Amino acid sequence: MNTPIVKLLDKDLESVYEPSEDSFLLIDALEADLEVLKAMKPVMCLEIGSGSGIVITALAMALKKHCQCYHLAIDINLDACKISKKTAAENLVDIDIAQMDLLNCIRTGNVFDLVVFNPPYVVTTDDEISNKQILFKAWAGGTNGRKVMERVFPKIPHILSNTGTFYLLVIEANDPEYILRVFTDLNMVGEIIAERKIRGEHLYILRFKKIK
Ligand SMILES: C[S@@+](CC[C@H](N)C(=O)[O-])C[C@H]1O[C@@H](n2cnc3c(N)ncnc32)[C@H](O)[C@@H]1O
Repeated sequence: MNTPIVKLLDKDLESVYEPSEDSFLLIDALEADLEVLKAMKPVMCLEIGSGSGIVITALAMALKKHCQCYHLAIDINLDACKISKKTAAENLVDIDIAQMDLLNCIRTGNVFDLVVFNPPYVVTTDDEISNKQILFKAWAGGTNGRKVMERVFPKIPHILSNTGTFYLLVIEANDPEYILRVFTDLNMVGEIIAERKIRGEHLYILRFKKIK
């Protein structure tokens, strides 16, 4: 997969998450699955919390020649939405962007073939999630670092198509094994498909599918 061009000015970095090791691990995991994803011919792809747009743009670029797919990115941060749109345009792919609090405005209906989420995962106090500085939203994960991501878990089986796949980035402190068990209770099967140790953090990519 080609790495998209992402142009972030100093002023953008004050409010928008700069592509980092976690973003690149997620792209690498999608690349490792690319042949399967191409064969799957996804029709609807969604990224929750797109930040600079690097992940959904990389995905759209990689799938462009193989299927006609609609890409939607959402982020709570309006600046991130604008930059995601710019990143997509810069890399000649078409992505719709919506400013939204997680999946609040997405109707259930099992339409997404692919959902990806690199959430705010850092363990913080719950108060930090609602800090006025918008950049806090990029990383503040509250208790266990799971406070934000946990809000989408029960909705995933309802937005994912029956053959769809959900990719989630987490860290050790989020307790990946616990998250796998949560999804088992949601009638989904998950596994760790990639991991990387970086500066005192252990990143994991979890991949989930519905149990048939
Ligand atoms: C760790 S960053 C990941 C950004 C990008 N996907 C990447 O991998 O580089 C998390 C993103 O989630 C967004 N986010 C945080 N809380 C959100 C919420 N409640 N609803 C939608 N997006 C949210 C943040 O604004 C941020 O852009």
